[in-house]
Amino acid sequence: MPLVKALAAQLVACLLAALAIKTGVVPLRPIWQAALAQGMLACGIAAALRSERWWLPIHLGFVPALALAQRLDLHPLWYLAAFVLTALVFWSSYRTRVPLYLSNRRTADAIAELLASRGPGRMLDIGSGTGGFLSILATRLPEWRFTGIESSPLPYLMSRWRSRAGANAIFLRGDFFAADWHEFDVVYAFLSPVPMARVWSKACAEMPPDGVLVSNSFEIPGVRPYRRIAVADRRGTELLLYRPSSGKRRTGR
Ligand SMILES: C[S@@+](CC[C@H](N)C(=O)[O-])C[C@H]1O[C@@H](n2cnc3c(N)ncnc32)[C@H](O)[C@@H]1O
Repeated sequence: MPLVKALAAQLVACLLAALAIKTGVVPLRPIWQAALAQGMLACGIAAALRSERWWLPIHLGFVPALALAQRLDLHPLWYLAAFVLTALVFWSSYRTRVPLYLSNRRTADAIAELLASRGPGRMLDIGSGTGGFLSILATRLPEWRFTGIESSPLPYLMSRWRSRAGANAIFLRGDFFAADWHEFDVVYAFLSPVPMARVWSKACAEMPPDGVLVSNSFEIPGVRPYRRIAVADRRGTELLLYRPSSGKRRTGR
């Protein structure tokens, strides 16, 4: 739905801008005026369609950025290369609505402390990105076993490269919703607000009774974490700890 809205806003704005040029309301040259008019129209249409606020500057700047890029006179292969690279990194973000960003070292420190206090076990990182976070934990906690699942090809390949020497971290490519979470004592999620309800249902259905679901920053709607850990970093990271067994009891599973 957000993508349909974005496409609709851009296309309708292009049509209206073309109409404005044809009727002489906006001159075709210099091109930046028409591009800016299209951007403002797209921004207004997106706002009217109740798109999330962060879409608005993207709509405003998209066609003006294209007009600017035209002036750079780059070889078309640069655009193809940029497109391929972006696709390999963000792969299914349009569907999952989870982009790539990485947990920092302070967060790894806090998780390492949490895991060490539980004794040896297995942890799953759902959406493991480039694997740096799990690799830090794997080095710090040799008695733990770590698994990362990542859908995007390039971050996954980077994590495979990182894990080549370590014995206690493995990385798999695929959809973490299709994996089995039964064997994991801790599941770590740094995703976005969108998949959290589904993550919770799966954790409640599959995780062991004393299992812990740790969410970096994003709350599970309608579920209160049993503990919050404030990470002393610049972005004010908060780790939210949930017990899926409490959800199981409530739903009678
Ligand atoms: C915000 S990044 C977190 C990376 C890493 N866990 C960390 O904390 O540094 C989230 C990652 O989840 C991946 N992802 C989102 N939905 C997924 C799914 N259903 N299956 C596998 N990976 C997924 C995205 O491609 C992205 O790389």
